[in-house]
Amino acid sequence: MTEPGRLWGLGVGPGDPELITVKALRLLRQASVVAYLVAKGKKGNAFSIVEAHLRADQVMVPLVFPVTSESLPPPLCYETEIARFYDEAAAEVARHLDDGRDVAVICEGDPFFYGSFMYLYDRLGQHYETEVVPGVSSIVACASVLGAPLAYRNQSLVVLSALLPEAELAQRLSAADAAAIMKLGAHFAKARRVVVALGLGALYVERATMPGQRTLALADVDPATVPYFAMILVPGRKWQA
Ligand SMILES: C[S@@+](CC[C@H](N)C(=O)[O-])C[C@H]1O[C@@H](n2cnc3c(N)ncnc32)[C@H](O)[C@@H]1O
Repeated sequence: MTEPGRLWGLGVGPGDPELITVKALRLLRQASVVAYLVAKGKKGNAFSIVEAHLRADQVMVPLVFPVTSESLPPPLCYETEIARFYDEAAAEVARHLDDGRDVAVICEGDPFFYGSFMYLYDRLGQHYETEVVPGVSSIVACASVLGAPLAYRNQSLVVLSALLPEAELAQRLSAADAAAIMKLGAHFAKARRVVVALGLGALYVERATMPGQRTLALADVDPATVPYFAMILVPGRKWQA
């Protein structure tokens, strides 16, 4: 009987290919199969980050999302569509593992921090020898690019999704010492309104460490141009040591 392959969830960092860890790079090069989640018609961020490191004989398995928006016209339901997609994606990865091939699933940033690899891990992690290699996450990459130390001493950092309702964003932000607001895109204007109303000193960056990286004053950002790969940071109050 063929020995099953191993499943590796590799964090490949926030964009700059030099921010991949030595371990992720070693396993990436060692894998027979490289799988990655990607939007229809796109090359994929994780794929672009590691492209230069791939071997010609590795099998590429793009797992193409059927939907990219959480609001779908009825009778479609995002939760149903996405669960079916992850079931099928996991089955595709499992076929390679069952045939004895090691599969590296590459994931932008860190795999266990809002990473889509988590949904494959939930389906396959119990059934195959699995290892997760942490990656440099976008939050710390954004803080570095912005030159903004995030949390001093006993301060608490709150991580928020811009998809939250405006009142909830306001309530959570008002209780935070420091905060990161992720998944901006079309939700930028709402997030900015909240930050401005609370009088917080917030910073904005898009595509941190990627080609096209941009930092702007919050007031200068045109909401129509805000990409998904953008973040607002509210750094903690400087603590003088
Ligand atoms: C699905 S989460 C993925 C997070 C990723 N696993 C990580 O560890 O950073 C996607 C969100 O991360 C943030 N993000 C990821 N990469 C980024 C980058 N290079 N620059 C700015 N924001 C980024 C954006 O807020 C984006 O909406």
